[in-house]
Amino acid sequence: MDTLLLSGDHKNEIERAGELLRGGEVVGIPTETVYGLAADALNPQAVKKIFAAKGRPADNPLIVHIAELSQWAALVQKIPEPALRLAKRFWPGPLTIILEKSQRVPMETSGGLSTVGVRFPAHPVAQAVIRAAGIPLAAPSANRSGRPSPTTFSHLREDMEGRVAALVDGGDCSVGVESTVITLVGERPKLLRPGGVTLSQLESVLGEVEVDPAVLHRLREGAVAASPGMKYKHYAPKAEVILVDASPEEYSSYVNLQTDCHALCLTEDLPLLRRPSLSFGGRYDGREQARLLFSRLSQLDELGAKRVYAHMPSKRGIGLAVYNRLIRAAGFSVINPQGHYVVGLTGPSGAGKSTVGELLKKAGWAVIDCDALTRSPQVYDSACIAALQAAFGKEIAPRGELDRRELAKRAFASSEGKRELEKIAFPRILAAVRMAVEQAFAQGKQIVALDAPTLFEAGLDAACARILVVTAPREERLLRIRQRDGVSEEEAQLRFSAQREEAFYTDRADYVIENRAKADLAEALAPVLRELQIENGGACS
Ligand code: TXA
Ligand code: MG
Repeated sequence: MDTLLLSGDHKNEIERAGELLRGGEVVGIPTETVYGLAADALNPQAVKKIFAAKGRPADNPLIVHIAELSQWAALVQKIPEPALRLAKRFWPGPLTIILEKSQRVPMETSGGLSTVGVRFPAHPVAQAVIRAAGIPLAAPSANRSGRPSPTTFSHLREDMEGRVAALVDGGDCSVGVESTVITLVGERPKLLRPGGVTLSQLESVLGEVEVDPAVLHRLREGAVAASPGMKYKHYAPKAEVILVDASPEEYSSYVNLQTDCHALCLTEDLPLLRRPSLSFGGRYDGREQARLLFSRLSQLDELGAKRVYAHMPSKRGIGLAVYNRLIRAAGFSVINPQGHYVVGLTGPSGAGKSTVGELLKKAGWAVIDCDALTRSPQVYDSACIAALQAAFGKEIAPRGELDRRELAKRAFASSEGKRELEKIAFPRILAAVRMAVEQAFAQGKQIVALDAPTLFEAGLDAACARILVVTAPREERLLRIRQRDGVSEEEAQLRFSAQREEAFYTDRADYVIENRAKADLAEALAPVLRELQIENGGACS
């Protein structure tokens, strides 16, 4: 079949796409999530052509795309109030809402189900094509079944040129992973597929949202999938993909020992790797990871990669969507090469890290108090004290003994002072921490937490596979600091002003524990402890 290549920038070419769609043809279109393969959602013959072009099993339902809210009502039995609230908040955008379907939606579109997922995409070209067609469009992701979804026009052409009537160029997709799929059909709202709209965004509108087990785990043999798409191996490049659950340092030292492989890594890993490597984004930039993941998987094929070691991303926020795609690309193959975890325990001062640390010790973890190590003579040897005196004055160590309060007062008075202190102390702290971690593992511990207020500044996060952040309301933190260190209100405020915002920590967290007065910390920590149980030398996933 000759495939027409159309530009999303030209009105007459969009009109042409609309005509083809009205005539029952299949057209590849851009959306903000991924490219889709569109056809008239209400025409069974047109919809069948989508399944043929994708090579997709017919029991996998399609999402119906609209460009006016008024198109929704005709597709579903009724629109309950929570669905309307979701639509108001997240449409147009990367969210698909599943409701009972109306008679008008054919079984071919719904994959034989009595329900239908509807989405109002944000991409201007998607909207223009839907309007030009004048009909709702069924559109799955435009990959050949089982392959990574295309997020660039060139990847769309690779998968679909010659298989459909036309492809519309709308540039690169800004979200990069498919829409979030939520069903409102059951008693409680349930997330079936994580995507551009995060779980906590959904919960901010709906209250608690259940997460379908298939989001995180492999479906048991014979189990019925709530979302049929979840049961297939998915998003996979031709290469074998193995997900490595480890810190940047552990990940790269493991990969560097392998032969004939590629690394699908985080940006922070790049300088540590000595194997052909592609980064799918910064460790703390889930949006970037989502945007790049699929195109990187396709690029690995172009490079002829045979075996790919992918670095485990965070599962928090949009990270849940990234992880969900990556674990399927890996066919659920996850390894924790060292059979242990180092977890960074950090957060703004006064949040109560040490209280959390005590609970972790009770759970069998080793907890290294990096502040205490910092105070140890090992770090503050005479060379270190001399360097500090040169920077902050003799008075910080009268008679050669370090006066920590005087040092803190001088160093934290300005951001330059803080940086100067860090430059002197961090390399020494790092060495001491590494030694303590080695000791804990040698003593048979499987999880070591680094209780470190300056985890990121000291570069200790590179040694951590997970980051656990403890936060508390500012007032409570202030009070705790005053009580703990016996300082005045002003001095506590002064320390605060030299500190990072809470978001600096939470943006980098795998887990956030809110330590409000009366909070049940043990309960808050339970999911963390569950996730990090190590069985047979590997993480459960
Ligand atoms: O971002 C997206 O949603 C993209 C773009 C093109 O809009 N579309 C997309 O469609 O990802 P598709 O067909 O590749 O994935 C739809 C997923 C499948 O896993 C399917 O099983 C599930 O949503 N799904 C669709 N309708 C459903 C329904 N009625 N009940 C349960 N799951 C449904
Ligand atoms: Mg798909």
